Amino acid sequence: MNITLNQLNQGLKDKIFRINNKKLPKTKKTKALKELSTYEFTQKSNFLGYQVNEKIDYQKNYSEYLNISLNNVGDPFVDGNLTTNTKAVEREVLSYFAKLWNNKQRTKHLKKDEFWGYIVSMGCTEANIFGLLSARDYLEGKFLLIDDEQNEKLKSISKSSKDRECLINQNLVSSYGKTKQNNKNEFVPIAFYSQDAHYSIVKAMEVLKISTFFNEAMKNDYKCPLKKEDYPKDFSKEYLENGWPKEVPSNDDGTIHIPALIKLVDFFAAKGHPILVSFNYGSTFKGAYDNVKEAVKKLVPILKKYGLYEREIEYQDKKTDKRNGFWFHVDGALGAAYMPYIETALKEKLIKKPSKDYQFPVFDFRLKQIHSISMSGHKWIGSPWPTGIYMSRIKYQLKPIDDPMYIGSPDTTFAGSRNGFSPLIFWEYLSNNSYNNHVKEVVKVENMAQYTYEKLKKLDKKNKLWIQRSPFSLTIRMKKPNEDLIFKYSLSTEELYVNGEKREYAHIYIMSHVTKKLINQFIKDLKKSKYF
Ligand SMILES: Cc1ncc(COP(=O)(O)O)c(C=O)c1O
Repeated sequence: MNITLNQLNQGLKDKIFRINNKKLPKTKKTKALKELSTYEFTQKSNFLGYQVNEKIDYQKNYSEYLNISLNNVGDPFVDGNLTTNTKAVEREVLSYFAKLWNNKQRTKHLKKDEFWGYIVSMGCTEANIFGLLSARDYLEGKFLLIDDEQNEKLKSISKSSKDRECLINQNLVSSYGKTKQNNKNEFVPIAFYSQDAHYSIVKAMEVLKISTFFNEAMKNDYKCPLKKEDYPKDFSKEYLENGWPKEVPSNDDGTIHIPALIKLVDFFAAKGHPILVSFNYGSTFKGAYDNVKEAVKKLVPILKKYGLYEREIEYQDKKTDKRNGFWFHVDGALGAAYMPYIETALKEKLIKKPSKDYQFPVFDFRLKQIHSISMSGHKWIGSPWPTGIYMSRIKYQLKPIDDPMYIGSPDTTFAGSRNGFSPLIFWEYLSNNSYNNHVKEVVKVENMAQYTYEKLKKLDKKNKLWIQRSPFSLTIRMKKPNEDLIFKYSLSTEELYVNGEKREYAHIYIMSHVTKKLINQFIKDLKKSKYF
C-alpha cells in the first residue's frame, strides 16, 4: 500500500497540535480539538478504502471505562493480582469464538484438545506473530506447557486459578526435544505463505528468524522444483528471483495456488524440514479465502510420506511426547469474523453461490490439522482501536520463557500488559446480536458488495478499469482513481503485476457502515473525475 505525498499533505496539520513546556492556552486547545473532531468525523463519513467497520457505538455503555486503567496482564484463565481486569468478559468472548470456529469448549477437567486463546492488544498482527512464534517453537521441539503426564494430573485437579497456576509453574522446565531420526533439518521449520499474505506474516518471519522456503532455497542454492505448468495462469515472472517464486504463487482471485504449494512443501518435507503453512482467510487486497480444506487434504499424504504427520519428540530424561511435524495457521484477520455466518446463509439459501460448483472453503477447527487462527476485532466487528483474537488449543501451548511471580498469572501471551477494554468491545457486539442477526448482517453486506460491483462493472463499458471481485469478498478492486478521491475516501492502493503488466490498483471495502448513498456518491465523484 503506497502512501502518496498528496495523502500526507491533505490531513491534519501538525502546527495545530504543537505543544511546548507551557500549558496550552484554553482557546488554542479548544480550536485544536474542534479541528480534530471535524477532520476525523468527515473522514469517517466517507470511509471506503480499508476493511474497517465504522458503524460503531460504544460511547453509551463504555465511556466511563476511559477513566479506569483496565489491564488483562497474563493468562486470560488465571485472574492474577492486577484486579482492574476484565478477564471474566474475555473468557466468555473467547468461548463464543471457540464455538463459532468449532473448537472444543473448556470443561472443568481440562483436556488437551480444548481451546486456549487470548484477546490481543495489537490487531491481527500480534495474533499472527504469536501464532508463528508458537509454530516455530513447537516445530523446533520446544517443551509444551502440558505434556501427557501432566495432563493426567490436570484432569484430577479443579479448575480453580490457584491449582492451575501451581500446575503450570511445575511445568516450567527448559528443554528442547530430539527425535530418533537425527536428520539435521528435523528442527528447522520452513514457512510457506502466498504472495497475497499480509505484510505482518512477512514481518513475523524476519522478527522470529523463521526461514521461508525461498530463503532456504537461496541459502543452499537449490533448484526450483516448479515447472511451467505448476504456476497459475497469468503468473508474472516479476515475482520470481533466481528461478524461485519469492512466495507461494496465488491465483488471479488472490487464493493460494494449491498445486504450487504442494510441490514446494514436498521438496522441503523430503529434506526432513518440519512444515509451517500460513493460510489467508480474507486476504488483504483481494479479500480472497484460501481453500484451506482442499490444501490440507492434499498436504496430509505428503506429511505422512515423510514422517512429519506425527513424530515423537524426546524432551527430557527419556520422556517423550507425540506431536505434529507441521503447523497450519489461518490468518483470518477479516474472514474468520463473518464467513461462518456466510456458510449458514448459503445453507439456508439466503444468498446465491458465486458459481455452480462453488464449495464453501472450510477453514476452522473442524479440520483437525489446524493449529491456530487469528482475527482482527476492528475489521468486521468494528472497534475504536485495533484489537483481535488468537485461538488455538491447550495441547499446542508452549512453555512460557519466564515465570514472573510479579503478575500472579502465567505469562502465556505475547504482550505483557494487555488491553482490558477490548474484551468489552467484543462483548457489546456479541451481546447485542443473536446468531440470526449476524446472518442477516452478512446477507445485507454481501448484497451491497454485489450491488456495487455490478454498478461499477456496468459503467466500465470498455473493460479497461480492471474491476474485479473475488467470490464473497467484501472488496472490489479497480484501476487507481485520482489522488483527491484517494484522500477523500481513504482508498488503499497497490501495484500488482498481471501477466507481466504492471498495474496500479485501488480498492474499496464494503463494510457494515457502507450505504447505497455512499456508493452512489463515490460513483458520482468518479464520473466527475472522468474516470470512466
Ligand atoms: C489478512 C490480514 N492479516 C493481518 C492483518 C493485520 O491486521 P492488523 O492491522 O489488525 O494488525 C491484516 C490487516 O489488514 C490483514 O488484512
